[in-house]
Amino acid sequence: MKGIIEKVVDYVKEELGNEGSGHDWWHAYRVWKISETLQKTEGGDREVIAIAALTHDIADAKLNGGDADKGLQRLSGFLSELSLETDKQKHVELIAATLSFKGANVATPMSTLEGKIVQDADRLDAIGAVGIARTFSFGGHHNRLIYDPEQPPETHNSYHQYKKSEGHTINHFYEKLLILKDRMNTQTAIQMAEERHRFMKIFLQEFYAE
Ligand code: ADP
Ligand code: NI
Repeated sequence: MKGIIEKVVDYVKEELGNEGSGHDWWHAYRVWKISETLQKTEGGDREVIAIAALTHDIADAKLNGGDADKGLQRLSGFLSELSLETDKQKHVELIAATLSFKGANVATPMSTLEGKIVQDADRLDAIGAVGIARTFSFGGHHNRLIYDPEQPPETHNSYHQYKKSEGHTINHFYEKLLILKDRMNTQTAIQMAEERHRFMKIFLQEFYAE
């Protein structure tokens, strides 16, 4: 008999295996492993953290034709098959519904320790070398320019504004990636973000120099 986590792994591989914009199975895997690292020092319910980390992108509006409610129904349908305790299922759904970055000036508070950990792990995977790779992968997938020196970054005051922005990929560093270091919830993630942040700044220096 397969355990719950094995079932979740199979499902996420099946659903996100070929996703081409940086939200593939290996992103889910890294978020899971980073969450486990954070849990060791920060605590929290390991089962909720693992399931939420693995499934956090299943409900993402971007991967559900722009429809977040449809995404949450899809996640909920799958979680119901696992026969989790009701409050655990609700907790995983709450994390999926609230963790996304929504713009430089839009707060995205997480109300539980488990949510804080999974959000930090997702954000650590958005920065550093992997974050750089994912960002250009997303840009290519959506036919965005790598860089246009004539188009400065924007500061988004609403999720609506942030979502409809179609700027070049270098702007995404200023509109999200370089902001994430100061948005980490847990001490462990704050420390882990330092090196990844430093590396992105060096990357940008080299990019402009070339
Ligand atoms: P979250 O995980 O907070 O919901 P997203 O799913 O919107 O964040 O973004 C995850 C990653 O996808 C980003 O960190 C980035 O690598 C890439 N991405 C999302 N939007 C853009 C964009 N407009 N330009 C370039 N990359 C993007
Ligand atoms: Ni993610």
